Amino acid sequence: PNPLIVTIDGPAGVGKTTLARRTAQALGVAYLDTGAMFRTTALELGPGASDLADSELVARLQSLRFELSGCGEKSVLRVNGRIIGDEIRTEDVGTMASRIATLPLVREFQCTAQQAIGSGTSLVVEGRDMGTVVFPHATCKIFLDATPEVRAERRYHQLRDMGREADLAELAEQIRQRDDRDRNRPVAPLRPADDAVVIDTSSLDIDQVFEAILAAVRAAA
Ligand code: C5P
Repeated sequence: PNPLIVTIDGPAGVGKTTLARRTAQALGVAYLDTGAMFRTTALELGPGASDLADSELVARLQSLRFELSGCGEKSVLRVNGRIIGDEIRTEDVGTMASRIATLPLVREFQCTAQQAIGSGTSLVVEGRDMGTVVFPHATCKIFLDATPEVRAERRYHQLRDMGREADLAELAEQIRQRDDRDRNRPVAPLRPADDAVVIDTSSLDIDQVFEAILAAVRAAA
């Protein structure tokens, strides 16, 4: 049978990661965080990635091997054999990621790597362009949204829970800039696929959104 692919796209701070992990766990399939792939790529390329010659950029990208193993909450993403950890979870790395994510060569490389991971494996996959570009034939496509204020607030609590300092106003501004960049880039901009189930999560709690996602998956599978 074809692998089951559930795509969860949406802007920063909407709760994609928590919900995608939980959905993968409930369905007993692997969880892929493509934002983590962009973040890791941004860190590996370092600042100045947009000034590299195409051939150099391609060589640097091709030296990165992403691998997904495990299932549900225990899914593990590796780059060149090394487990990707919390070092990528800062808003600065998010900003770096959204800068390199505008480069067509980076997107092409990511798309190929993500499709390869999904080719033989059932997945819940989160990102920005999973339903529109990378997995256009996904079993079920979800698009999560929420007001910018709600998302800044959720990200603020998430960072505090990780023991990090965070400034709500500064976070709100960083998230706003990152969303603008993600929505307005020419290649694979953030938008719901025509056949996506769009869920406005602004006034829902996490359990309610989770139930809505499961209902959409059941209706589609
Ligand atoms: O989801 P996360 O906040 O970890 O993503 C970091 C950045 O990576 C996003 O702001 C976006 O620019 C980029 N990204 C992307 N396409 C994806 C996933 C992430 O462009 N599928």
